Amino acid sequence: MVALFSEFKLKDITLKNRIAVPPMCQYNAIDGLANDWHLTHYSELARGGSGLVIVEATGVSPEGRITPGCLGLWNDAQAQELSKVAATIKKSGAVPGIQIAHAGRKASANKPWEGDDHLPEDHADAWQIIGPSSIAFGKNLPRIPKEMNLEDIYRVQQNFVDAAKRALDAGFEWLELHFAHGYLAQSFFSKHSNYRQDRYGQNLDGRSRFLLETMAKVRQVWPEHLPLTARFGVLEYDGQDEETLQESIQLVKRFKQEGLDLLNVSMGFSIPVTTTPWSEQGFMAPISKRIQQETGIKVASSWCIDQAEVANSVIENNQLDLVMIGRAMLANPHYPYTLAKQLNLENPSWVLPAPYAHWLSRYQLGRFTD
Ligand SMILES: Cc1cc2nc3c(=O)[nH]c(=O)nc-3n(C[C@H](O)[C@H](O)[C@H](O)COP(=O)(O)O)c2cc1C
Repeated sequence: MVALFSEFKLKDITLKNRIAVPPMCQYNAIDGLANDWHLTHYSELARGGSGLVIVEATGVSPEGRITPGCLGLWNDAQAQELSKVAATIKKSGAVPGIQIAHAGRKASANKPWEGDDHLPEDHADAWQIIGPSSIAFGKNLPRIPKEMNLEDIYRVQQNFVDAAKRALDAGFEWLELHFAHGYLAQSFFSKHSNYRQDRYGQNLDGRSRFLLETMAKVRQVWPEHLPLTARFGVLEYDGQDEETLQESIQLVKRFKQEGLDLLNVSMGFSIPVTTTPWSEQGFMAPISKRIQQETGIKVASSWCIDQAEVANSVIENNQLDLVMIGRAMLANPHYPYTLAKQLNLENPSWVLPAPYAHWLSRYQLGRFTD
């Protein structure tokens, strides 16, 4: 038995293996609508053999998008187009998931390959950015967000609830709340970006409030039998990691009480300069294991876990419940097949859908008789 290719059951959903495609923005939508690019991109990824494919960060409101090219889920037309994406993922053999997001002070930006910085305030496509406090991220994202008042907070929480309902109606079976990477929710949690003096700031309880309330509200509309997950940055690689990790563990315990089923463990990205150990394969795995042990939550993670032995061992050693593989999947959507071969799975072709698997297993035998 190869651990990476064992089934994983969460609530009523069974993944055929432990490999997931994490959300990866395509910056290729107009007005937040999925189009042929998304349809082919996601069906290709799903045909590649992963158990789960999570659609990219999808804005819960127009101002919640990172760039004007990001997907959205604030109207029914967007849900309609995304329902085709969910259907093609499912038909291609994977469970369809989606990440819903608000980019906060990192919103209103250029596409990465067109500058990866804030659109100038007077640009025709730019919009007013918001955050817990009027503090800029800095470096390439220098714009100062408007400090959210209570009305803004409740509106965005309702946007998350409405997007979750639309995701369900569109056929997604796995929901991921984007609470990571310095976007809105993470910036409420982080001391680097939350200087509020009201009950949404001041201390751990206050800095956790926006995230906990949002999760509780979403749980009310997202069915109990389907996985509710979140991506959350549990540390910043800013020299204060033990303190942040301990705070994160407190919050994750409370997420679990609110009905969280799995945490996609990530980093905060709340400041531009960090000491992240990029060159280490699987550097988030021991951190994820600690979160799992101290909170009892199921965990997934990504960040350089793409070598076969590493991906398999983090599952075998119970460090992760799921491995998220991103860039290697963009380079080769059939990467799970490559991994299966490298790990000497008895019949590696079974990770692919029948129209591919049938011929590849024959090819391995060297025959092509009919
Ligand atoms: C093109 C691209 C877009 C991404 N977009 C998102 C996103 O929408 N949401 C998110 O949480 N992470 C996003 N990420 C991070 C990935 O989900 C993943 O964590 C990262 O690529 C590290 O995994 P890897 O080393 O296997 O590539 C993105 C990464 C890439 C390369």
